[in-house]
Amino acid sequence: MERKNGSTIDGAGSLALDITILVGTMTGTAQLVAQELELRIDDGETRAQARLMDNLDAAVFEGGGLFLICSSTYGQGDVPDNAKQLYDSLVSRRPDLTPVRYGVIALGDRTYAETFCNGGRRFDRILSELGARRIGDILLHDASAGTMPEEVAAEWIGGWVTLCREQIGESASA
Ligand SMILES: Cc1cc2nc3c(=O)[nH]c(=O)nc-3n(C[C@H](O)[C@H](O)[C@H](O)COP(=O)(O)O)c2cc1C
Repeated sequence: MERKNGSTIDGAGSLALDITILVGTMTGTAQLVAQELELRIDDGETRAQARLMDNLDAAVFEGGGLFLICSSTYGQGDVPDNAKQLYDSLVSRRPDLTPVRYGVIALGDRTYAETFCNGGRRFDRILSELGARRIGDILLHDASAGTMPEEVAAEWIGGWVTLCREQIGESASA
């Protein structure tokens, strides 16, 4: 049985998750993170597909689903260029995203103290304003910390998927 939050329950009652990773990037770091996560997540019961945000708009969230926003930050704490159309269309169209569940990986650099990771945080703010529900805390990555974002994200993703299973599983049995 396919459901609106990106999960399917098979005949044996196990919960399969389908995660769409939406990638906002300028120089490819967020894409590298998403590609690493695609490999890590795919275990038969949980599938992930990465999509660059290029040319997407709010329609990508139509019908609900489980999304992982993976976005860097540019300019004055803005979303990257390839994410602008999607972000602006959420702000202007304001669709009801109640069936959407999402997580956020925000890439930034603490050198930009005032706007640290604002690209990902902006997506978090607009999605929650539109009724979508975040699962887990935002993963904030600081490029000046000397850690590799794909490694930090690979360590984080297992816990996030477990939380998704718990929260989506609970609402399935409620
Ligand atoms: C011109 C420029 C502006 C940036 N502005 C910000 C910013 O305002 N806030 C922030 O946290 N990081 C900022 N960053 C850091 C990037 O978001 C960070 O390096 C990120 O990992 C890049 O990911 P990407 O290759 O996927 O675009 C900026 C980087 C550059 C080169």
